[in-house]
Amino acid sequence: MGATGMVGQHFVKFLAGHPWFDLKWVGASGRSAAMKYRDATSWRLEGAMPDGVGDLTVENCVPGNAPHLVFSAMDSSVATGIEQAFAAAGHSVVSNSRNHRMEPDVPLLVPEVNPDHLQVLPLQKANRGWKGQIATNPNCSTIVLSLALGALKQFGIQRVIVTTMQAISGAGYPGVSSMDINANVLPFIGGEEEKMETETQKILGSFGAGQFHPLAASVSAHCNRVPVLDGHTETVSVGFSSRPTREDILDAFAKFRGAPQERELPSAPARPVIYLDEDNRPQPRRDVERERGMAVFVGRLRNCPVLQHKFVALGHNTVRGAAGAAVLNAELMRSEGLLSL
Ligand SMILES: NC(=O)c1ccc[n+]([C@@H]2O[C@H](COP(=O)([O-])OP(=O)(O)OC[C@H]3O[C@@H](n4cnc5c(N)ncnc54)[C@H](OP(=O)(O)O)[C@@H]3O)[C@@H](O)[C@H]2O)c1
Repeated sequence: MGATGMVGQHFVKFLAGHPWFDLKWVGASGRSAAMKYRDATSWRLEGAMPDGVGDLTVENCVPGNAPHLVFSAMDSSVATGIEQAFAAAGHSVVSNSRNHRMEPDVPLLVPEVNPDHLQVLPLQKANRGWKGQIATNPNCSTIVLSLALGALKQFGIQRVIVTTMQAISGAGYPGVSSMDINANVLPFIGGEEEKMETETQKILGSFGAGQFHPLAASVSAHCNRVPVLDGHTETVSVGFSSRPTREDILDAFAKFRGAPQERELPSAPARPVIYLDEDNRPQPRRDVERERGMAVFVGRLRNCPVLQHKFVALGHNTVRGAAGAAVLNAELMRSEGLLSL
C-alpha cells in the first residue's frame, strides 16, 4: 500500500527476488488505481524497475483480494483508517507509517533490539476485535539511534543527547526545495525530535503485564536536514548507570547480535552494528550502501566530558530506516509463526 510513492518504490526494489515474499499486489490511491504500475509510478530509484512489477495493475487500498501480508508506505494522512480496515479484515499490516507506532497495543519493532515486543499482538487482537494485526517500524532517524544504543543497553542507559544530519531523501519526493537545501543546513524537521525521543524510549523499554514500559532514560534530540542524498548521520553522547570503559563499549558493538542474525533471516545484516576505526568514518557517501543498507555504522568513540561516551552513527534512511526495516519485521514475524503464509 503506497507502492507508487518513494518508500513504496524502495519496498518494490527491496522485495525483488526475496526468497520468502513474492510481490503480487500493489496498492495506491484512486489516482493510480486500475493503471499498470509502470504507468502510475515515476520510478525515481537507481536502476530499472524490477522485472514483472510494471505489469501489475495498481489496486485501491481496500481489503478483499489483497494478500495476507501487506506492507504499508501510505501517506500518513490516510494510513490510520486504511491500515485498521486491513487488520480488521484479517491482514497482517507491516507498516512504515508513523500513525500507529506509539499506540499502547502496537509493537514498534527493531528486530535486533526488541523482538519480544511482538508479545503485544494477542492483546491487540483482543482489544480491537481484529482478525489481523498491525506491526510498525520506527522513524528513519530513530532506528539508527536505537540500533547503536541497543548494543549498549546492558550498561544501563540514563541520558542521551543526539544531533542528526539527515539526508534529503528522508523528506520524500520532491522533498525540500533545492533553493533551501543547497550549501545549507535546515535546523528544523517538523515532529522529528519528538519522534526520536519517544520512539527510542518505547523501543529500548520492556513489555510485561500487558503493557509497554518505556526506558526511563532522558533522550534529547536535535534534528537537522543537510545536503546529503541518502544516509542519516548522528552524533550521540550517552551516560550510563554503570561505568563501562571504551573497551567495554567497543566489545559490545562488536558482539551485538539479535534474533535476525541467530535465525539467519534473509534481510539480516551479518552484524547489525559495525564499528569503523578510521578517524573520518562513517561517511554517508562512502559507507551507506554497504551491507545492502541494513547495518548501522559507528565510529569515533571517545570520552564525553558532559555525559560519558560519544560516537558517530550512520544508517540508510530509506532502507534500514524504512522499507528494509519493515521487510525484516515481516521476516521476524514469519519466523515466529505470526503470518498466515
Ligand atoms: N521518505 C522517507 O524516507 C520515509 C521514511 C520513513 C517513513 N516514511 C513514511 O512513509 C510514508 C510514505 O512516504 P513517501 O515519502 O513514500 O510518500 P509519497 O512519495 O508521497 O507516497 C505516498 C503514497 O501514498 C499513496 N496514497 C496517497 N493517498 C492515498 C489513499 N487515499 N489511499 C491509498 N494510498 C494513498 C500514494 O499513492 P498515489 O501515487 O496514488 O498518490 C503514494 O503511493 C509516510 O507515511 C512517511 O511519513 C517516509
